[in-house]
Amino acid sequence: RPRGSHVRRRLTGKLPPWSAPSRSGNQVSEYISRTFLDQQTEMELPRVTPTETPRPMSQISGLRGLPHSAGLSAATVPRFGVQTDQEGQLAKELEDTNKWGLDVFKVAELSGNRPLTTIMFNIFQERDLLKTFQIPADTLVTYLLTLESHYHADVAYHNSLHAADVAQSTHVLLATPALEAVFTDLEVLAAIFASAIHDVDHPGVSNQFLVNTNSELALMYNDASVLENHHLAVGFKLLQAENCDIFQNLSAKQRLSLRRMVIDMVLATDMSKHMNLLADLKTMVETKKVTSLGVLLLDNYSDRIQVLQNLVHCADLSNPTKPLELYRRWTDRIMAEFFQQGDRERESGLDISPMCDKHTASVEKSQVGFIDYIAHPLWETWADLVHPDAQDLLDTLEDNREWYQSKIPRSPVDLTRPEQGGPDRFQFELTLEEAEEEEEEEEEEGPTLDTEVWESPDTERLVPEASPDPGALPLDNQR
Ligand code: CMP
Ligand code: MG
Ligand code: ZN
Repeated sequence: RPRGSHVRRRLTGKLPPWSAPSRSGNQVSEYISRTFLDQQTEMELPRVTPTETPRPMSQISGLRGLPHSAGLSAATVPRFGVQTDQEGQLAKELEDTNKWGLDVFKVAELSGNRPLTTIMFNIFQERDLLKTFQIPADTLVTYLLTLESHYHADVAYHNSLHAADVAQSTHVLLATPALEAVFTDLEVLAAIFASAIHDVDHPGVSNQFLVNTNSELALMYNDASVLENHHLAVGFKLLQAENCDIFQNLSAKQRLSLRRMVIDMVLATDMSKHMNLLADLKTMVETKKVTSLGVLLLDNYSDRIQVLQNLVHCADLSNPTKPLELYRRWTDRIMAEFFQQGDRERESGLDISPMCDKHTASVEKSQVGFIDYIAHPLWETWADLVHPDAQDLLDTLEDNREWYQSKIPRSPVDLTRPEQGGPDRFQFELTLEEAEEEEEEEEEEGPTLDTEVWESPDTERLVPEASPDPGALPLDNQR
């Protein structure tokens, strides 16, 4: 029997429809499998010629002039890093810096739309990182303003507000009791810095889009984690701008170590790494060791970076764990960005990516699917790791899932076939058949590459048990 095929069969018995290429085009399943599994799309996509002007390979694209850095000196750094005439209100808002649910949208309004600079400056002060690493305040603010200006204000979701949100979420997760005094100052600095740069110069389209359109970026990075490699290159390159080197007083060894960790963390935000990251986290939870103080015991680089990678990844996927008012605003933004990508695909004659077609996508279903298959499995595992620290957050996630589920309109098809759960259930059965056929072929031909992804003994539980595609929920599960 070829290696891996039994794993595949064991899995396919429980696979929800999105995990195999679909025939009947379930949008949520296609979106998730194309975006979150490390696999190539099987579709033939027309190639379009890039309109960008060729540039020397040695140059990092997207670097701009540094409009904000001029003239800031140690004596002129404002209290929160940015000029504002609403300092009192901003101070009030920033009292929530250490809390899950800080209103970053409010911080953006009160800081002249500089949420990343404001929140990062505040976190660095809160954690005393300026003193620990001898970072001059004016250098920190200059770097942060420069970094923030390299996020695109006209991109609906992946702008500096999202970076500020992820940085602040990372800051809160690092303070969880189960991790008390576990990480060194340098590791904390690396995690917060990684969060701040993790989406910089994001163009508002996915890796797959960049690959499919022969973009300069895909060419530069050979189609592998294209955006994530770029975010890192820009984030580090900006340290070389005038008065921007916030790591100037670190030793050479510290700089190298920090750089390695930041690279490991940002590359792990590529969603095609999600399933493997989660499988390894589950293994860690099963073999979890705690010290006599009741905190996690992480005694080697591999375990330490694994927790940090998952922590930043959790922060990146934290929208559905936030208070509903905030979560809904994030959903509006991500859907606006997806729809813009869909419009560009339509105009270029490309296939429209799942969830990106404004004429057919269901915002509510996409959120329920995102929670069921991506966010909840991850957060549930994180909550096991730091038990019981993340219980409230997990409760919020589940309440939010119910809220979006309750907003899904019942379709006429579901009403006429309540016991069968509509067409997606049909597709699920179809998928099973396809998988069995494939397995027979595999036995003749030997293992195929994609089974490698499923080697982990834990993979079986990656798939939420008895949790079919949200579009396939039988009526009595709907509220
Ligand atoms: P990015 O922020 O680069 O990395 C995490 C990805 O998860 C994000 O891009 C989106 O592709 C996806 N994601 C995060 N939040 C949501 C959400 N609320 N709905 C759908 N997709 C999301
Ligand atoms: Mg990203
Ligand atoms: Zn992100």
